[in-house]
Formats: sequence, structure tokens, C-alpha cells
Amino acid sequence: MNKEIKRYTVTAALPYTNGPVHIGHLAGVYVPADVYVRYLRSRGRDVAFICGSDEHGVPITIKAKKEGITPQQVVDKYNKIIKDSFAAFGISFDNYSRTSAAVHHRTASDFFRRLYDEGKFIEETSSQYYDAVAQQFLADRYITGTCPKCGAEGAYGDQCEKCGSTLSPQELIDPKSALSGETPILKETTHWYLPLEKYEDWLREWILEGHKGDWKPNVLGQVKSWLDDGLRPRAVTRDLDWGIPVPVEGAEGKVLYVWFDAPIGYISSTKEWAEREGKDWEPYWKSDDTKLVHFIGKDNIVFHCIIFPSMLRAHGDYILPENVPANEFLNLEGNKLSTSKNWAVWLNEYLEEFPGKQDVLRYALIATAPETKDNDFTWKDFQGRNNSELVAILGNFINRALVLTQKYYGGVVPSGENLTDEDKATLEEMRSYPEKIALSIEKYRFREAAAEMMNLARLGNKYLAENEPWKVVKTDPVRTEAIMYTALQIAASLTTMCEPFVPFAAEKLAQMMNIVAPCWDEVASKEILIPTGHKIGEVSLLFEKIEDEAIDFQLQKLEKARMENIAAAKAKEPAKEIITYDDFAKMDIRVGTILTAEKVAKAKKLLKLTIDTGLDVRTVVSGIAESFSPEDVVGRRVCVLVNLAPREIRGITSNGMILMTEYPDGRLEFVAPTGDVSNGSAIS
Ligand code: 2FM
Ligand code: ZN
Repeated sequence: MNKEIKRYTVTAALPYTNGPVHIGHLAGVYVPADVYVRYLRSRGRDVAFICGSDEHGVPITIKAKKEGITPQQVVDKYNKIIKDSFAAFGISFDNYSRTSAAVHHRTASDFFRRLYDEGKFIEETSSQYYDAVAQQFLADRYITGTCPKCGAEGAYGDQCEKCGSTLSPQELIDPKSALSGETPILKETTHWYLPLEKYEDWLREWILEGHKGDWKPNVLGQVKSWLDDGLRPRAVTRDLDWGIPVPVEGAEGKVLYVWFDAPIGYISSTKEWAEREGKDWEPYWKSDDTKLVHFIGKDNIVFHCIIFPSMLRAHGDYILPENVPANEFLNLEGNKLSTSKNWAVWLNEYLEEFPGKQDVLRYALIATAPETKDNDFTWKDFQGRNNSELVAILGNFINRALVLTQKYYGGVVPSGENLTDEDKATLEEMRSYPEKIALSIEKYRFREAAAEMMNLARLGNKYLAENEPWKVVKTDPVRTEAIMYTALQIAASLTTMCEPFVPFAAEKLAQMMNIVAPCWDEVASKEILIPTGHKIGEVSLLFEKIEDEAIDFQLQKLEKARMENIAAAKAKEPAKEIITYDDFAKMDIRVGTILTAEKVAKAKKLLKLTIDTGLDVRTVVSGIAESFSPEDVVGRRVCVLVNLAPREIRGITSNGMILMTEYPDGRLEFVAPTGDVSNGSAIS
């Protein structure tokens, strides 16, 4: 049965405040959510767009430890960075709260207490991993080990990032404490569990039956696999000192599990918003004529489709999500985005490096959004989306329409009295776009929606190209007026149609046209969007070309990160096995000087060197030719292992070896004495 929807509560996953937001977060969650909400608002719908910082959980305490600051300092720092960059990027939240807010602590505590009082939890004492050195239980990311599912090392106690499996600490092979590196011991502790298995049948019916036609296949697939595996009780408390205290007597030292409190953050953020706006928050969460939609990334599916709904169901007062349009993951230049490897485009850095170009990133991310499968963001594609689409299609159409209006009519919209059937058909086609785009957006197909918006600009370009007002103006002023009038209607429709995707350009366009953008339904139905006699404003370019230099700069930044990762990985290579002092003392290493150098024929890596070792002048064949040309090395001071057994290399007898080290990119460097020591000096 189709009920009439009176309002929308749209949530976007609360970002963890242990780092800035990157393009993966934007493409997966925030940009699609913002497109959806902007569209709804343009249709005059009552919307609460809710988000906030997720400030609890182990990743934050680990970050604090690493940086030598308190968890509060970590969340304060990143909450500000994230909040400010979302605002600058035009993500139009109605409220951006934080889970450290008093309203959230109260709301989450009350929620827990209600379930506790009603006997909805199981209380259980069990043995859990404990770090005897750090004197702490090891929840979630405090413990690492080998993944039992895929064998990857460094899997966390709650998840393996390699294969995406959700884990519990006890499943890890060879577990180690992330705090001390020690093997943990088992120690008894009491926790509260939500018996998810009790909700299994209901979840199956509600999602797999009730929503099989409208939820995305990737979401349904994950839910089905969870349900088919069988649900088990899930702990909703932790032994940690960072989080919301468990509101039960005798639970000192225990806090709510971050995934218990974070989704309740949507409710507390709504309360905060309503309070500020003088509204009642309750219908947004309790009235079944409200459509609740959660925008998330795929790693959050289980929490939003199984655990949070079970919590809401257990509570009983709340509505359930109508949809959870989770996206897959975005990769960057062919590799998985990674915060720890700095393989990312950080929003705060993008905003500094591309001032005024928020729309370009928004548009490029929508166009490559990982809606049905993982997708790849490349800087070349980003440049192409800007130069070949935003500039060449949308910007070009707007520029031609407005510049010609200025030129022919001093900026005044000409008469629309003499429209031909073709003009009318073009306007009719223009009026079909709001519905087309709406249908895609309502199905959460934002790529398709953005492509349709661009098609509307293409319609305008094609219309101008076919009607050539710049030629007609010389012979037929009446016809020119009709053409320009028609083109201006299309330009006006674009102020509305492009707004969800490129809101900054939409605002600029409305200013240039000196209009208030019509609402969505007006574009579909109104005959005249910009009337004859209306004077448009000043015209400038809507988008500007992005040059190769800007793209190369970004690619170099990534290359630098790649090199640093290689170096870090090498630095982490385990040391070779222990040797005795006698083993070491056997090596005779002397300072020398390279006297001559030449390439070895047909061996691109080898140089033949003659070296004055202080003992003698000898030949050494060395694999350094890819890092140095012969001229570079003559005269260089080196360290030579002089008692290495001679070896035949390419027909040359090599007498010794010079010591080298390596840059991250594989280039070699000499290990040499810095002072003025003479040849033959021993190295010990
Ligand atoms: O994955 C994450 O970044 C989580 N902080 C998302 C939380 S969403 C919600 F439940 F609050
Ligand atoms: Zn794994």
C-alpha cells in the first residue's frame, strides 16, 4: 500500500573523527545524500538532513595514543576540519552534531536504559582478551591478528579490512594487543548483548520480502548472506574508558559499544536541529508518514540494515528506514583508498588546492559514483568531466545563450510570441526532464540523473547549433527573438535541474539570469520560466578549464605517497637472522675512491669500476648503472668490501663490492664516509 509521505528524515553516516573526509566518503555517502536532499527541497518536501561526528570508538583512542594527545583533542580537531569542509563543499545538512554532545549522551543512555529495563538484553559473563601489560580489555581494533577467513595479517578484532569479513576477537589467529604488542590473556568480564537471532525472522520478512523490489541488490545481497549465516547475540557494551558510560549500576568502567550509540546519533542530531528551529523532532522519527532514508557506504550495511533496525524494533517507538541506498567503494587511480597509506584525495586539501571548484569534484564523483560496483576515480577523468562536460556542454550552452542575449538585446529577454512548432517541441522536451531526472533520483541512480541533466544542456546546445541565431540575426530579427527566448527558457530550467549536482554553479547561474530558480514542478509545468522583458544580470563563465599542470600536481602528490609507502614497507621488513661478532668481524670494509667507470656491454644495470682501496687498485663490477652514469661516479668516495671472493660477471672478474642504499623509488645511493678519511681506512 502506498502511503502519503509527509516528511523525510535523511541521514548520512556519521564520519569517524579520527581523520579528515576523503573522496571515498564523499562519493559513497555525502554527495549522493546531498543530491537527494537538494532535489527533495526543490520539490517543496519537508526534509531533515541529519549528520554529525562519530566521536567514540577505538579508532579514536588509538589515534590519540599515536599522536600523544587525548581522545577529546582528537575529536575536537577532526570535528572542526570535517564540519568546516562539508560546509565549504556545499553538503547542505540541516544539522551537523557530534556524539559527544550532551543531547546525544542523554538520548543514547535513555535508549539503552529502556531496552535494559524491558529485558531486551541478555547479560553474560565470558572470557575476553585482556592485555596484562596495558591492564585493559582488548575490544575491536585494540586487537589484531591473522584473519581466519582470508589469512591476511593485521586483521582487527572487529573486521578484516582485506576481505571485509566482520570478526570477533576470539576468531583471530595469533592475536596480539595493538597497545603493547603482547599476546593477550583471557579474563572474565560481564556485558550486555542484543539477541539478534530473535529478530531474524522479522528482518527476513521486512527486508527480503518487503523491500525486495526497492532496495539495491548489493544491499539485499549482504543482508541475505548475514541472515543465511544465522544471527547471534551481539555485545552492545565494551570495557573502555572512552564512550558513553553504561547507565546501569555496577557497570563502572564500561561504555556503550560505538555502533550502539552512533546510529542513535541520528536521533539526537534531529533533536538538536528541532530544538534550534523550534520544531517537534518526534514526527521525524516516530510518524509512519515519514520516509527515513540512510545513506551509507557498504561497510556499514550490517549496522544499518540489521543491528540498528533490531534496536529500533526492540525499542518500539521508532519508524524503520524505507531505504538504505548503500554504495560500493571508490578506488583512486586503480588502488584502494587508504587513510593510513595516505592514498586519498582529502576534502580539506582539495578545497585549498582547487578554490571555487567544489562543483567539479561533486560532478566527477557523481559521474563515477560506485553505485552498483566498486569504481575508480582518476584525475584524468576528473579533468575530462570538467573540460568536456561542465565547460564544453553546460558552461558553453549557458555562455552562448546569455552572451548573445546581452549582445542582441542589452540583456533583456526578447519576445516569445513567434515560436515555431520546433521551438515548442524543444520546450516540451525541456519540460520532460524534471520527471526523467526525478525518476532516477528517486531510485537512487544519481549517475543516471546527472547524465540526464547534462542531456538537457545538450538539448540547449543542439538547439542553438541547429538554429544558428548568430547567422539568423543578420536577416531575420523576429526569428532570432524566438530562438533566444527558447534558449533562455532552457537556461532557466537548468538553474533548477543542475542545482542538486552543481549547486554553486546553479546559484551563479540564477544570479547571472537575475532570477530565483523555479521549483522542480514549475520547470515541468510552467510555460514561461523567464518572461519577455526580464533583464538578466552580468554574465561570466560558469566553469573554467582545468589545465594539465593542476592534474600533474595531484598525480605527483600520489606518486610521493606511493614512494613513501614503499619505503615504509621496506623499513618494516624483518631484520635478518642474528649473526655473531665473529661473523661480522670477518668482513673487511675499506674506504676507497672510484678512479674510472664504464658501462658493461649489453648489461643495462652494470658499471665496471676501478677503485683505489688504499690497499690496491682493483676492478669491481657494480649494479648501479640505472642510478648513475659513469661520469657521475668518477671521484666518488665509497665503502668497499675488499675480502669478498672474486666473481666472474659478464666475463670480468669483480674483486669486492661497494656498499649502497636505496631511495623509495629504487634509485641507489652510495654509502660513503662524510669526513676526509683516507683510502684504506677500515670500517668497523
Ligand atoms: O564507518 C563509519 O565511518 C562510522 N563512523 C559510521 C557511523 S554511521 C552511524 F551509525 F552513525
Ligand atoms: Zn580477511
